[in-house]
Amino acid sequence: MDPVTAASAAWRARRLAGDLQRRGLLTDLRWAEALRAVPRHLFVPQAGWAASDTPGSAGRRIDAAVDPMSWQDAVYSDSSIVIQADDGVGDPASGQGLATSSVSAPGVVVEFLELLDVRPGDRILEIGTGSGWTTALLCHIAGDHQVTSIEVDPVLAAKAAAAIKAAGYAPRLITGDGAAGDPGGAPYDRIHVTCGIADIPRAWIAQARPGGLIVLPWSPGGSTGHKLRLAVVDESTAVGSFHGPATYMMLRAQRRAAVWNPHHHSQAGTATTRLDPRSIAGAGDGACLAITAQVPGVGWHTIREQDGATSLLLYEAGNPGGAWAACDYEPGAADFPVTQFGPRRLWDEVVAAYRSWLRSGSPGRQRYGITVDAESTRIWLDNPRNIIGEPLPLSPQPAQRGA
Ligand SMILES: C[S@@+](CC[C@H](N)C(=O)[O-])C[C@H]1O[C@@H](n2cnc3c(N)ncnc32)[C@H](O)[C@@H]1O
Repeated sequence: MDPVTAASAAWRARRLAGDLQRRGLLTDLRWAEALRAVPRHLFVPQAGWAASDTPGSAGRRIDAAVDPMSWQDAVYSDSSIVIQADDGVGDPASGQGLATSSVSAPGVVVEFLELLDVRPGDRILEIGTGSGWTTALLCHIAGDHQVTSIEVDPVLAAKAAAAIKAAGYAPRLITGDGAAGDPGGAPYDRIHVTCGIADIPRAWIAQARPGGLIVLPWSPGGSTGHKLRLAVVDESTAVGSFHGPATYMMLRAQRRAAVWNPHHHSQAGTATTRLDPRSIAGAGDGACLAITAQVPGVGWHTIREQDGATSLLLYEAGNPGGAWAACDYEPGAADFPVTQFGPRRLWDEVVAAYRSWLRSGSPGRQRYGITVDAESTRIWLDNPRNIIGEPLPLSPQPAQRGA
């Protein structure tokens, strides 16, 4: 990069940090300093797919060889940039296929880093190195020797290692399955997870110090999820709080099909309801947590048309041949059609959970918490004894790597 472009990158990085501060996403000025110090352009390939974190914005191809200014604009904006599609088989700059790695959007990265609450001397384990950009930010704040990062994909890991070195940092980098953590490096004070997690690997709790913190995007339905911060109680228990929505690419082994597949349509049951599906879709994080707790394994998508028509689509995460349901709002209609198929009546289950949330006084996400232990994951309201729904069972865990 020539000096003129380097100067413009520094100016853009300052502007980005200021923008995140104004929007209230960045409050700890250490991260503003790190954003200015770590050149994000070193972690972005020549061509990628930029998706702004502003709701409703469309993604776009960026290519430094074709339009260097627009490439820099995207690199120093609150956009995630896809750097890998379909585990390396697809073209990451096409916007097609499953995005499997990205340089995460700065706003959500900073929100997670602030939740991590890094103190001087903390030893930090990161899961999902990706481009290496967040790893470099952590090195800038905590010091190279305090940071270990694990990436499952060897091609990405090698590129990240080169970019981190070019930026002037030297953390410990591991290529492997981050779900097993890093027993040899334990105990860690902080664990920063940058891929979506449906079922929290217990190895991370075992490898964190009591009182340590783990932050992660928790996506039990395989699509939209929550920023979760877990405080580690002992080697097998952690208790957590929710801090707003977060949607991330899933940990490889936990990619559940987040697909609404209306198979056997002609055999589906139909009915009408007076309950506007937009009331559920727009009820917010508290309702979402109540539904997650009471309708295990449910995932959902909302489709909104320009004329206001809205469909709430429900499915069993990870089971494309499983139960599904849909409820459609049409502007001006008094009743709304419901279609559902499968041994589970997902619409009925979700409505029952939504009504119980209304009966509890429509609590917001701040009143919910989660306890994760060796046997299960439990969502509770107000205190850990007031469990909502059934405990979510522990899935099979990955083999531990030797120390
Ligand atoms: C959203 S990207 C990380 C972005 C990174 N924070 C950055 O800004 O560059 C998620 C990464 O997690 C990695 N990943 C997925 N499953 C993993 C696993 N089991 N262990 C380690 N890394 C994994 C993916 O390959 C991907 O690179």
